[in-house]
This record gives sequence, C-alpha cells and structure tokens, in this order.
Amino acid sequence: MRFSEEKLKEVEQIIARYPEGKQKSALIPVLHLAQEEFGGWLSVEAMDYVASLLHLKPIEVYEVATFYTMFHLKPVGKYVFEVCQTGPCMLRGSEEIIRYIEEKLGIRPGETTPDGMFTLKTVECLGACGYAPMMQLGKYYREHLTKEKIDAIIEECRSKAASN
Ligand code: FES
Repeated sequence: MRFSEEKLKEVEQIIARYPEGKQKSALIPVLHLAQEEFGGWLSVEAMDYVASLLHLKPIEVYEVATFYTMFHLKPVGKYVFEVCQTGPCMLRGSEEIIRYIEEKLGIRPGETTPDGMFTLKTVECLGACGYAPMMQLGKYYREHLTKEKIDAIIEECRSKAASN
C-alpha cells in the first residue's frame, strides 16, 4: 500500500505547512487523502502507512482515526449517509429520518446495502444545528431533511451511479 507519486507530493506539501517536528499536525488531512486513495475507508494497513509517513506510532494514528466519525474503519458504500443524531437534530425529527432510511434501504446504522451503494451512519453534531435535521453526504450537507427529501437524495445517488 503506497500513495502515488502525485499524492506523495501532496502529503509533503501538507507536512510543510507546519513547523519542523510538528508533522503530527498533518495527520487529519493526510488521513483524508488516504481514505480517498485507498477505497473510501481506512484499513489498519492504511493507518500504519500514514503513521510511517508522518513518523508517528501507529497508536497515535488509530486514536485520531477512531475518534472522528468522518473516518470509516471498514468498507463503506459508494454513498455514505451520515445522519446527525444529536439533541437539536433529534428534536427536529432525526430519529424518524433515520428510521425512514433504515426501512427504505433495509439497513441499520453501520451497515451497507448488499449492492455496495449506500452506507448509513449516525453521527454527533456536525455544527449545522440551525438546519436540523441534517446529514452529511460526501463533501456536502443535506439540510432540513424530510422523507420526501430522502427519497429524492436516494434517487439522485442512484442516477449518478448509473451514469458513471
Ligand atoms: S445537532 Fe445536528 S448538526 Fe448540530
């Protein structure tokens, strides 16, 4: 497991943003790169590789990767629904949204549909409480969720996948 030459250059640029000896500060952006590059999730092998690049102990990488829900520690689907379940989103109906996604896709939080298309995750506050209930999908937030919006999002993902 190795980054391409191009990605290695990106890693060097990220490390260079921080003072000498503070390469640990580059950990989160480098983990994002690794997740993108190695199939959308971080295996132990990928985390160990990142540790070696940044001259860290593997445990220092595991601590960070296991803390943040944006890092996936097992294979995920093409589209990951990260639905916020913290108080403000819950008060605005996130539980019902989660239940609806479960029924619609036939999966529980932490699971992926058999076709490898969708993963459902529940996460803590994503800092968009004013738009509750909300979820993250890839790089974007989907806000003021309703059952109708979930239907439309699922359709949108399916047609994007079909056209790729
Ligand atoms: S509680 Fe859901 S974004 Fe803050």
